[in-house]
Parts: sequence; C-alpha cells; structure tokens
Amino acid sequence: MKIAVKILKWTGIVLASLLVILIITVAARQHRTFEAPYPDIKASTDSSIIARGRYIAYGPGHCADCHHAEGSEEQILKGEEVALAGGKPFKLPIANIYVRNITPDKETGIGNLSDGEIARLLRYGVRPNGTAVIDFMPFHDATDEDLTAIISFLRSQQPVKHAVPNHEIFTLGKVVNAFLIEPVGPSMPVRKSIARDTTANYGKYIANSIANCVGCHTARDMMTGAAIGEPFSGGMQIESVLEPEKYAMLTPNITPDPTTGRLAGWSQDQFIKRFRQGRINPHSPMPWPSYARMSDDELKALYNYLRSLKPVNNAIKPGLITIKQ
Ligand code: HEC
Ligand code: HEC
Repeated sequence: MKIAVKILKWTGIVLASLLVILIITVAARQHRTFEAPYPDIKASTDSSIIARGRYIAYGPGHCADCHHAEGSEEQILKGEEVALAGGKPFKLPIANIYVRNITPDKETGIGNLSDGEIARLLRYGVRPNGTAVIDFMPFHDATDEDLTAIISFLRSQQPVKHAVPNHEIFTLGKVVNAFLIEPVGPSMPVRKSIARDTTANYGKYIANSIANCVGCHTARDMMTGAAIGEPFSGGMQIESVLEPEKYAMLTPNITPDPTTGRLAGWSQDQFIKRFRQGRINPHSPMPWPSYARMSDDELKALYNYLRSLKPVNNAIKPGLITIKQ
C-alpha cells in the first residue's frame, strides 16, 4: 500500500514538473524570432505604379475585405474604396486575431515601418520584431513589381488614426504558436515581374499569389491552417458574412470536374458575367465586391487557369449550413 502511495506521489511530482517545464517552454517560445532577408523593394511615387497597387488592393488582392475599419462593411458591399484602418476580428478556436491598421499613421498604422520591413512581412511572413506572421495573406510569391506597387499604394493613402487591439492568443493557441507556427515564405524563386495577359500562367499567379482563391477553395485544418484537401476542390467551411454565429457555407469545387465541379459547363463569358454580378447570396463570405473590380483580361486568365487544373471528384453541398452551438 505504502509503495503504491509513494509511486503515485512521485508520478504526481514528475507530471507536475513536466507541466511546469511545458508551461515555461511554451511561454519562452511565444517570442521565437526568425531570420528572413529584407527584399530590395522601394516605394515609388510614380502614379501608374500607385494605380497598379490600388487596383490590387481594392480588386483581386481584396485588402479592404479584411483591413477595413468597423462600420464600413456597407460601403465595401457597394464597391467603395474604404480606408484600410483595420480592427476586424477573426475569431479562431486558438485566438482572436485583429486585422491591422495599414494606413500610414505613425502611431496606430504602418507609418513607422520601412519599405523593407513591409516587404519582408508580406513575402517572408516575418514581422519587424522577427516573430512569425499568422498566415492569412497569400502574397509570398507576389512579384517584385507587384510588391513595389502594393507598398507604393500603401504609402500614398491618407493616414487614419485608429488603434487596433492586440491579438488575443488562447492557451491552446500559445501551445500551437510555440511549436507549430512558422513563417510562411515564397514557394519558388522570387520573380521580378510576370506577363499580364490572359494565359493560364497569369491566372495561376492571380489565383494563388494575389486573390487567394486557393486559400478558401481548399479544405483546411482549422487549428493549423494547413491544407488537407486537393487544391481548388472546395470543402472549406467559412462563416456567413451576415450572421457569422449562425450560418456557414462550404466552398464549391472549382476544378474542371464534369460532375462535381461548380464551373462545369460555364463558358468564359458566363464566368466573367458571374464575377461582374458580385455577391448573390448575401451570406457568402467570398469577397465578390472586390473581385467584381477585376479586369476582363484578369478574369479570362483565371478562367483559363481553372480550366487547366486536374479535375478532382469532390461533391460539395451548396447552400447555408446552420452552425451547431
Ligand atoms: C484574409 C484577410 C486579409 C487580407 C485579404 C489581407 N490582409 Fe493584411 N493582415 C491580415 C491579418 C490577420 C494581419 C495580422 C497578421 C499578424 O499580425 O500575424 C495582417 C497584417 C498585415 C500587415 C502588417 C501590419 C502590421 O502593422 O503588423 C500588412 C502590411 C498587411 N496586412 C497588408 C495587406 C495588404 C497590402 C493586403 C492586400 C494587398 C492585405 N494585407 C490583405 C489579414 C488580411
Ligand atoms: C474568403 C473565401 C473565398 C475566397 C477568397 C474565394 N472564394 Fe469563391 N466562393 C467562396 C464561397 C463560400 C462560395 C459559395 C457561396 C457563393 O457562391 O458565393 C464561393 C463560390 C465561388 C464560385 C461559384 C459561384 C456561383 O455562382 O455558383 C466560384 C466560380 C468561385 N467561388 C470562384 C472563386 C475564385 C476564382 C476566387 C479567386 C479569385 C475565389 N472564388 C475566392 C469563398 C471564397
């Protein structure tokens, strides 16, 4: 009996010590820093470069859909160019993430960040203090030319003073952050520029590195964000923009599968018309108003790219899903 009690006691001490070690390790690893180069990118004041950046920001790159200030959702729905003053929360199982103010305000925005720091953050996923960016943005393979355009546009905005709360990382999130979160960087050698035409090659660039169609139209593990489904074959569950506590939708399969692909039978013309229509289901979380601003050529390129994908048979139920509380 006595021995059993002793073993229990020692097991308890060992477990408690391990727990303390884990807590200390998790705490120490919250501020893990990472090395990444500063891209040689300099903001320009050339109006055509700024115009390209603005087009990306309010069009395919849909910065405004995440970086808008609270209360400007209505304007986004109307396709207006709202200030990128931030504040929208993403409520995840592991954290509440607050989208940042990316206007040039020095105190509450990005006015104090250098071009190299912003470029490194977007390309290599490393913040100015060296910690890893939570991977919401798809611009790791954006060309030097487009990163320059984006940063030139960011610099040209009117500064807006608007303080955004710090991210709230829950206990589980801290464990995930300590061991799993690493900066995401480019998946290929950096390109200086890319031919902007109607080819599948340009469509691939837009779908993966600017508009992030792949980010939503691929099933993901909601803890780590890692893809668990075939790219573009759909099945990720995303909350409604209207009633996020109540409803969600599954993203459709947009590979050219003749039976389960949502685009089966769509002509290029129908595809472009669909994008011009914007949001049809008011619950849809897809940033339709931003995409509606894309040029015909860019939409043609997207269509050609989606048609060129390997067909994946994956039937997705359309319509609203009621979230079980
Ligand atoms: C899907 C949502 C989403 C989209 C779209 C998006 N962002 Fe972000 N962005 C975020 C989140 C979330 C963060 C905070 C990330 C973090 O701190 O780990 C962020 C952070 C940033 C930061 C760092 C700001 C700081 O002070 O730390 C910059 C710069 C930025 N975004 C620029 C852009 C630009 C430019 C675009 C469009 C071309 C864009 N973002 C599109 C969600 C988004
Ligand atoms: C934030 C997540 C998100 C992003 C980013 C996104 N989608 Fe979607 N998409 C959805 C959801 C959810 C639906 C289903 C609801 C709907 O039809 O609006 C959808 C529907 C669609 C449909 C079917 C529309 C219809 O009328 O049946 C097409 C086509 C489509 N997306 C293509 C794209 C392309 C191309 C991109 C990139 C330019 C993209 N999506 C980016 C979430 C997203």
